[in-house]
Amino acid sequence: MARRLAAGSRLVIASHNPGKLREIAELIAPHRVNCVSAAVLGLPEPPETAPDFIGNARLKALAAARAAQQPALADDSGFCVAALGGAPGLLSARWAGPAKDFSHAMRRVHAELGDAADRRAWFACALCLGWPDGETATFLGRVEGEAVWPPRGERGFGYDPMFVPQGGAATYGEMDPAEKHATSHRARAFAQLLAACFD
Ligand code: IMP
Repeated sequence: MARRLAAGSRLVIASHNPGKLREIAELIAPHRVNCVSAAVLGLPEPPETAPDFIGNARLKALAAARAAQQPALADDSGFCVAALGGAPGLLSARWAGPAKDFSHAMRRVHAELGDAADRRAWFACALCLGWPDGETATFLGRVEGEAVWPPRGERGFGYDPMFVPQGGAATYGEMDPAEKHATSHRARAFAQLLAACFD
């Protein structure tokens, strides 16, 4: 059984992205845990050298937990395309280049897919709660669907406009954000984390 965080504990969010920190703090708010970001504590960001999402989440969580001597939560996520062997996957952010241009990243997915008949794709989100003594609890949320072209919708971010979840017709870029947030890969990973580790 995973070690649990009691109400009132301090939790380091091992991310330097203010948007992510806000979203995670909101999801955790009902559990009365005090979130502080790795950036505010001045913690270094370790290089993401693991071969998978879980491994990268684990190395980020442990680096922050050890440096802060407090439990830390990290995430790692990405967009994966079956016919591309799971790419862009771990490189999802990097495919957008230094300008973080996701229309460029989506065009690259489209170009590499060519006329492949297999359009299966998924979003994955790994979460890791790490402790200063090296204990970790990891969770993986996945949403299966299809890569579509051309991209549709102005909502969301990243690869949202080219992904239609299984059983739906709208892309994540067209969908009401509340609906996406209730059912997404991130929501699925968080539901597991909250049930296992939070009072
Ligand atoms: P990281 O988790 O900060 O390493 O970034 C993962 C990258 O995956 C993001 O920059 C996005 O490109 C992509 N990604 C992860 N989750 C989503 C999502 O919900 N919608 C669209 N793109 C996503």
